[in-house]
This record gives sequence, C-alpha cells and structure tokens, in this order.
Amino acid sequence: MISKNTIDTVFETARVEEVIGDFVVLKKSGTNYKGLSPFSNERSPSFMVSPVKQIWKDFSSGKGGNSVAFLMEHEHFSYPEAIRYLAKKYNIEIEETEQSEQQKEQANEKESMYLVSEFAQKYFNTTMLTTDEGQAIGYSYFKERGFTADTIKKFGLGYSPEEWDAFTKEALGKAYKLEYLEKTGFTIVREDGRHIDRFRGRVMFPIQSMSGRVLGFGGRILGNDKKAAKYLNSPESDIYHKSKVLYGIFHAKQEIAKKDNCYLVEGYTDVIQMHQAGIENVVASSGTALTPDQIRLINRLSKNITVLFDGDAAGLRASIRGIDLILEEGMNVKVCTFPDGDDPDSFAKKTPHDELIKYLDENAKDFIQFKASLLMDEAKNDPVKKAGLIRDMVSSIAKIPDRIQREVYIQECARIMDISEQVLASTLAQLVSKEIADTGKKMKEEQKANAMRPVPNEEDYFDPSMPPDQQQERINILEGLERRMIEILLLYGGTVQEFEDVYIKFDEFGKEHEHSEKKEYKVYERIYLNLQEDEIQFTNPVFRDIYKAAIDHYHAHQEMNVDVFMNTLEPELQYVATDIFMQDEKYNLHDWEEKKQIPVKDKNMSVAQYTNEHIVDLRWLLLGRLIQDLKMQVSPDADNMEILMSVNDYNTLVNYLSRKINRLRSSFF
Ligand code: CTP
Ligand code: MN
Repeated sequence: MISKNTIDTVFETARVEEVIGDFVVLKKSGTNYKGLSPFSNERSPSFMVSPVKQIWKDFSSGKGGNSVAFLMEHEHFSYPEAIRYLAKKYNIEIEETEQSEQQKEQANEKESMYLVSEFAQKYFNTTMLTTDEGQAIGYSYFKERGFTADTIKKFGLGYSPEEWDAFTKEALGKAYKLEYLEKTGFTIVREDGRHIDRFRGRVMFPIQSMSGRVLGFGGRILGNDKKAAKYLNSPESDIYHKSKVLYGIFHAKQEIAKKDNCYLVEGYTDVIQMHQAGIENVVASSGTALTPDQIRLINRLSKNITVLFDGDAAGLRASIRGIDLILEEGMNVKVCTFPDGDDPDSFAKKTPHDELIKYLDENAKDFIQFKASLLMDEAKNDPVKKAGLIRDMVSSIAKIPDRIQREVYIQECARIMDISEQVLASTLAQLVSKEIADTGKKMKEEQKANAMRPVPNEEDYFDPSMPPDQQQERINILEGLERRMIEILLLYGGTVQEFEDVYIKFDEFGKEHEHSEKKEYKVYERIYLNLQEDEIQFTNPVFRDIYKAAIDHYHAHQEMNVDVFMNTLEPELQYVATDIFMQDEKYNLHDWEEKKQIPVKDKNMSVAQYTNEHIVDLRWLLLGRLIQDLKMQVSPDADNMEILMSVNDYNTLVNYLSRKINRLRSSFF
C-alpha cells in the first residue's frame, strides 16, 4: 500500500494543469485554461481546467475531477497507478506500507494537533475581543497599527494573555490533551512540572495552510523591547513545517491566479496592510529567503512573482541572493523597492489604493535588469569588481531554465553593463554547458511527446459560433431537487445567511398560531439540521454520498475548500461535484456575454429563501415517499397500529409543509 504521507505529498505537489497539459493542449482563458475535450471529437473547446480549484471539467462528456481522476479516465489507470504515475512525474519517493496500528495512531495524532491549533486560534481571538486585558492591550495594539475590525476578523488575529498558563489551563479544561499542547508548542512543560504558555503576553497571527487550516502562529511582543525576540513562532511539528508554508497564501490564492502575479513581502504585517489597501495577491516569506517548496506553492497559481523590498539598502544585497532560487523554478521575477525607510506595511498604510497600484506598476522592474543596474552602480569605476559582477550576473541568468529567455537577458545585461554580448555569452556557455545538454535532452523528449499528440488547427480551435453542447439529461423531479440541494450545499454551504424559523403554537382554544424568529445560520447547518430532523435520506445514491462527504467536510472546516473536498471523493462522485463547482465557468467557455446573464436562481430570492424553499420541497416529496412506503407495509393480519400512527404523524407534517410551500410560492410569483 502507498503510504498516506506519499498520497498527501502527491496531492500537494501535483498541479492539475500540468498533469493534463501533458495530454491536452491548454490555453489560458481568464483564471482557467481551456482546450479540446480529450474524451470526444469536438471542434470547439469545452474542456476546462481550474488551477485555483485544482479540478477539471469536460462539458461535452460531463466528466470531471482532480488530477487523479483525469489519469484514471484518460489513461485508464487504477487509483494506485495514478498516484504512482504522479509520484514519478514529480520525483516523489513512494513509501510503501501496510498501515500498522502505530501509523493509524499517527494520523489521528496529526488531526488532534490541528484541532488544538484551531481551538487556540478561537481562544486568542475571543480573548482579545472580549476580555478587558485583551481589548486594552491586544486590540488597541492592532488598532494603533491601523488594522480595522474586518481585517482583524479576516486574519483571525488574537491576543494571548500575560499570565503563566491562561491558555494551557483553558485548553486542558476543554479536554485537549497536554501531549498535543506540547507537540504544537503552545505549552512548555518545565522540569518542575509547571505549565507555561509559550505565547503569553503577545499578539497572535495564525498561519494557515493553502486550504485554510491553522498550522501554527507567529506571536509578536508588544512594544519595542530590544532584548526579547520580536516574533516568537510555533516550533516545527508534524503539522507546521516552516519551509513549506507561506503566510497569507489561503487568502491570496484566488487573487494570485486571477491577477497572474504574486507579491512577495517579508512580514505578517506587510501582508495584512496590503490586503487592507485592497491588494490581495500577496504572501510573506516570514523574514527568510523562499524555499523551493514555498516557491512551488506560488508556482501552482502563477508563474509571475514580484518581490517587494523594504526600503533599507543593507538588506537588499542579502535578499537578492535568495532570488536565484526563484529563477531556478522557472518563474518570472520582478522586484520593487520603496522609498527609504518605508516597507510595504508603512507604504501601503499611507498610500491610497489607486496610487499604490500605480506605484507598484511603475516601479516593478525585471529582476535581472534591476540586479545588473544595482551592481553596476557599485562597480562603475572598478574593473576588478566589474569582472566579479559579470560572473555574478551570469550565474543568475544561468539559473533560468528557458534558453531563449536567457539569450534575451544576455543582450539586456550587455547593454546595461556596457560590455560585449560575446563576453557574457561565453561566460554563460561555460556555466551552463551542462544545463544546455539537459535542455537539449528535454526538448527532444518534448518533441517526441508532441508528435503523439493531435495538433489542433488554430481555426478550429476557436470557433465562437459553435453552440456549446447543451444536452440536458432528463431527470425526475425528485432527483432534480436533490441535485439542487447539493448545489446549494456545495456553493453556498459555508456562507452565513439569515433564516426565518417558524414555530407553531396552539393556544388554549386549540387554535394554531405561528410566530417567526430570524436567526443567522451557516447554510450547511441549516440544511443538515432540517434534513436530519426527518431522518431523510437522498434517494439518488450519488447525491447521498456527496451529501455525507460535504457535511463531514463542513463539520471539519466550516467552509468549502474545493481542493481538499475533492480529494475525499471517489471519482464517480467527483464528476458530479465538479459539474456543480464549474457550472459558472460553462457560460464563460465561449465568452458569450449574454449567456453569463442567465440567472442561476431567481434574482429576487435570497440564498436563504432559495435554500428554505428547497428544503421544504425536498422534505415534502421525501416524506410523501416515506408515507407510501409505510402504507405498503400495512398487512391485513397484523397489528398495524404503530405504522398507522407514523403515517398519521407524517401526514400532519406533510399538510403543514404543503401550506408552507403555498405561502413560499405565493410570495414570489
Ligand atoms: N520574524 C521572525 N522572528 C523575528 C523577527 C522576524 O519570525 N524575531 C519574521 C516574521 O515573520 C516577520 C518577518 O520576519 O513578520 C519580517 O520581520 P520584520 O520586518 O522585523 O517584522 P514585521 O512583520 O515588519 O513586524 P513589525 O511591522 O510588527 O515590526
Ligand atoms: Mn517589516
């Protein structure tokens, strides 16, 4: 068996657009890619790949899913074969295991650590917002830095009280185990057995994974005590690997893909301030040079990165060295500096949004050119320095995997540094002779692969007059309703809506009175609570399974993380789920402006009303079936009392729902 660890690594590393790109010619279209369906013989593209959601959808065949599902479908691989294929493609070593008791325990242990971290985030946040100390110290600190209440909420910021063990005590009281408090680093157990909160007296920045789980924290000391470390971070653990996370990636991922660029800053506060200034495609390296793993996280979303430097020149030289690594991953790097003394935090804070955007656009320079000019300034009249600088420059250029791009840079640098192209080119040749050999080999392989791939004709490729395949399945009313319920659950489940609860009371004369109360629920809770009430099951087995998986997912995450969710589904279920997640994209396929305006739901209806209506309809229909089933069980030679009483109860409920449906209907039509 392939270890869970390997499978996780494969899912974290594999990029659906790369995996599919080996089989289908993909063109960028907005935040997505589109291409010709590999599953049907079509002339206009109806195959879509979403790098953000890490899923694909073939609108002509109805198939869809994640990268594993694609390989199973296209290459007819089994699940383990698909995992092995991806592991090979991405050079991931496969761990083989029979899952032992101990391994199962480890998986549980990780989950427990996630839960402790989630609890800590809530505790620090609540403590800051609701206690006197939290408000006076933590909240006012963030206020002073210019963070709004919305920003604080978005980033889940908090405060850890200035007490030896306030958090540890609270967590132990809530039955979190000391073992996990220690492993996540929240609690330090001293030799004399005393518990100490690692983060006492600090403001807290939760660090989230790509999918939004809390992995660890940065805790900032208040004030400017030069003796203590300004930031204290969670220690490395089974769930927190500093070199593999980027602060802010969860909140930035959509925008990075959309803008096709990622701003890289140093600190937590830089990220937050930029967000508040309306720039959301920004992540922080947390003060160190980027690691290859971190670069790959960004690379999943965009090939372009703009590094924002603090305004002090001293740090500049050091930071520049780290950038070669980014070039090595084949990314396009720009850099942008700020006026002396400013960092992204201070600059974003005082600059209006439009001006900030303009500043970044105008001042972002290509990295190679930037580096060449910077070094030139230093070495202008010093031939020895200049020779060293040539080697330095060329070694950066040698890191770029694309040969043509390297040549362009050679020309550029020759101009900036005022030396001949030949000198640079021959230095480069020495440095990259090995790389050139590798590139040659790779190009041959690519050509071989290309020869096997059908080459689409450009004209066929974009045919705007071709209507999309609009085959509509005929599904019966109940299945249609069940499907819409699943749609609501997947698309809106994590949103908070205001619902109206109607209660019926009987007065002393036995007369019915209704009174209603408005209350906020997450949509998934509302659906779950209502359907659970009647112990209703979906009739369609696929919807039943998706429903269960979605509810489990929401219980664990409180919101929909499409990529994480997809990984929990069987391929067959992935088709249906992808269909739902990608239904908006369908209308974008041919850029049909008018198509986009097709309302997915009645414009006058809120999500809450829409949800309520479907819950009621579904309950009504399913209860009807239940009553039918019960009636079938009535037999002439048995005491049917219990069945008949149930039928009676259900009938009352059905009648009530019927009236409710009429009321709901009449208020909309
Ligand atoms: N950092 C750290 N430990 C430290 C100092 C810094 O982990 N002792 C990391 C943090 O992730 C921090 C980043 O390096 O966000 C950048 O450091 P710095 O510029 O000093 O911090 P800022 O985020 O700018 O914090 P502030 O504005 O509050 O001073
Ligand atoms: Mn800083």
